[in-house]
Amino acid sequence: PIAAAANAPAASPVSTAPAAPKEVTVLYGSQTGNCGALAKKVTKRLQDQGFEVKLSSMSDFKPNGLKKVENLLILVSTHGEGDPPDNAISFYEFLHSKRAPQLEGMPFSVLALGDTSYEFFCQTGKDFDKRLEELGGKRLVPRVDCDVDFDEPAAEWINSVASAFAELAGARAGAAPQAVPVTADTLLASVESEYSRTNPFQAEVLENINLNGRGSDRETRHLEISLEGSNLEYEPGDSLGIYPENHPRLVDELIEAMGWSGEESVPVNKNGDETTLREALLRHYEITVLTKPLLEKTAALISNVALNELLASGHDELRAYIEERDLLDLVQDYSLKGIPAREFVAILRKIPARLYSIASSLKASPDEVHVTVRTVRYENRGRERYGVCSVQLAERSEPGSALPVYIQHNPNFKLPQNPDTPIIMIGPGTGVAPFRAFLSEREETGAEGKSWLFYGDQHFATDFLYQIEWQRWLKDGVLTRMDVAFSRDSDQKVYVQHRMLEKSRELYQWLQEGAVVYVCGDEKRMAHDVHSTLITILEQEGGLSPEEAAEYMIRMQQEKRYQRDVY
Ligand code: 2AM
Repeated sequence: PIAAAANAPAASPVSTAPAAPKEVTVLYGSQTGNCGALAKKVTKRLQDQGFEVKLSSMSDFKPNGLKKVENLLILVSTHGEGDPPDNAISFYEFLHSKRAPQLEGMPFSVLALGDTSYEFFCQTGKDFDKRLEELGGKRLVPRVDCDVDFDEPAAEWINSVASAFAELAGARAGAAPQAVPVTADTLLASVESEYSRTNPFQAEVLENINLNGRGSDRETRHLEISLEGSNLEYEPGDSLGIYPENHPRLVDELIEAMGWSGEESVPVNKNGDETTLREALLRHYEITVLTKPLLEKTAALISNVALNELLASGHDELRAYIEERDLLDLVQDYSLKGIPAREFVAILRKIPARLYSIASSLKASPDEVHVTVRTVRYENRGRERYGVCSVQLAERSEPGSALPVYIQHNPNFKLPQNPDTPIIMIGPGTGVAPFRAFLSEREETGAEGKSWLFYGDQHFATDFLYQIEWQRWLKDGVLTRMDVAFSRDSDQKVYVQHRMLEKSRELYQWLQEGAVVYVCGDEKRMAHDVHSTLITILEQEGGLSPEEAAEYMIRMQQEKRYQRDVY
């Protein structure tokens, strides 16, 4: 029988010539790399089904190629006030311009990543979806909008897309090969390490110090965390994800306000795992952020006239309420006491990890990862409010304690391949963190390219983060130049962009020499002002018109010579 089997004619593939496999173009755009990771998954899945897949970041995609695209999948996140992420901007603008081609029945589908606590939830994905239809595309599978906890809906979208394409291909060339459906777990299995966003590593805190001097208004924590035994690896520019715990006091106050005991058993996921309510509110559920869907679900649990009125009130009124308050406020303002704990936790979001730009290089600090975290504390409505993760790191993360962590790779914020390429780094406040990683890496690898750091904070005497390290790197030539702006040491506010403008001639010279510009830190004010200043410098020193300068910046971005990690 064995011989017979061996001699049996090989199953001929298909007697009639199969139609050429269809081609699918997968484009992604995101600030954090989540869309990139999902794009890889859908690519792999379609390849297994015999499709030829062209996978690309939106910034690497030549818009002229859109005419020839046969099938298009878009995975995109939304940034800030409903804006596209940096690496999606130029494709977004092209698609919404008159230059965009007619798409005549081209099948497409969109996966949108976002956060329901933002007003313009998944706006960029919605825009792409609408525009592709306007241009004549045919929506193959409805758009899926994902909240922070995107694993399950994203896996469902990938499954729907895969079966829709299998059907399309089946209609042309007979049965398409079957593939294993994606679940949230297989979707996120990491290749390098067993630890990932869905399976964080319990990492030991090795060091935890306040970088600010006595008398400073600010507190900035430098944490050194052990990755030993995790196989986790990162490169400068990547981020560390940390799953925080809610403040025990807030949890206790919430339990009391709701009239619960804290000991009742509640589910923590859909697999049937349970724990005590107190534990669940500490570690598993988000209680510091309100969203419109949460208010709607609450109103469905309890009949409450005032809450219904708030929901029916104007859009601005509702936004104002949501943005200023947490779950304890909601419970107190609307006397929500009486909702059973099980029902209530079922409508809460899972607590999301916080991402911090990594401040170290694995080459300089093997098995370690360092982060620079500013403590967020403020008062609002008669109560002290805490940044969930930053206050935990400041108050409850002594050396020896453990934190659940993972690495979030960021391909959009990377040192140049060529060690001789000059770099300009703009990072006031904690925005300076990744530049400590960059210089550590360049020191270890002996890179010889010039480097220039613009740094600023409030006061020289108390807020000069990592001062000794920059000075040593300046002395050793790892850092070529440094300009600082301490905003509150003089009557006039001085910011990094003022220093840039003062040095505009040299800065322009560096740009001409091919320097890569990096900006890290506050987005709304700092990064925006720095962008305008770069445009001013191009006009002033390069004689460009405002339009030419803006185009120059877009080209820099496309060529990865202008990279931002802003928040
Ligand atoms: P300020 O707090 O005195 O306004 C890091 O937070 C530093 O960034 C601080 O010195 C802060 O100054 C400064 N900063 C605030 N707004 C800024 C802006 N629009 N551009 C650049 N730096 C800014």
